[in-house]
Amino acid sequence: MKLNNRLSTIADMVSDRYDHVWDCCCDHGFLGHALISGLSAKIHFVDVVKPLIDQLQLQLEKQFPRSENWQVHCTDLRTIILPASEAKHLLIIAGVGGDLIIEFVQKILSNNPNANIEFMLCPVRHNFKVRQALIDQGLGLFNEKLVFDKGLYYEVIHAGREAKQSIETMGSLMWDLSQQPHRDYLEQNIAHYQRAVRSKPEEFSEILYAYQKLKSGIVCID
Ligand SMILES: C[S@@+](CC[C@H](N)C(=O)[O-])C[C@H]1O[C@@H](n2cnc3c(N)ncnc32)[C@H](O)[C@@H]1O
Repeated sequence: MKLNNRLSTIADMVSDRYDHVWDCCCDHGFLGHALISGLSAKIHFVDVVKPLIDQLQLQLEKQFPRSENWQVHCTDLRTIILPASEAKHLLIIAGVGGDLIIEFVQKILSNNPNANIEFMLCPVRHNFKVRQALIDQGLGLFNEKLVFDKGLYYEVIHAGREAKQSIETMGSLMWDLSQQPHRDYLEQNIAHYQRAVRSKPEEFSEILYAYQKLKSGIVCID
């Protein structure tokens, strides 16, 4: 099955250095499904909707009879407890809103204080807020990419406690302002926060300033 541009970009960013890769909020499991054959990690599928998980289980049993390579979990991601060991986990959370992603990350980290966790996040909107929350949680940046898919832009953020590079609220590595789609996305953010500043200047002027500074080429990395 062919992945859309957003999911295939995420899949390409997953390296083969994990013991467990979690396709969180997996829905039909397209992403995890695409990862099973290419990685040595065990692939976990998590969703809160039982009929989706039951159907996915039947499909996986048919296609991948070696069930040690995958596992399905019908559960609320907020309650997930990772196996306590030295194992390395990558949790991918894509296709849900930024506020929900912030809540998931906070809960996962507090429920699993000793686990070795990295996150691959692709929020629907509120990227700035997600990035601020990751910074507040003490996470750093491994990699990030900007994706254009079906008329919408998405940011994919690969973050973890062991990453050396700091996360920037308006993004850093993902920008290539020599490319028109990147310039368009930057303009889109500036226009969005210009409107937001009119109603709540105290909340949004700093964000607007960060994007404007990026446009003027004076990126300030503190
Ligand atoms: C739009 S789909 C995203 C599918 C896929 N990750 C993607 O990026 O295309 C959102 C999925 O999140 C699941 N979901 C929402 N809240 C959840 C929660 N608290 N725990 C686990 N799954 C949840 C929904 O059931 C739904 O299948």
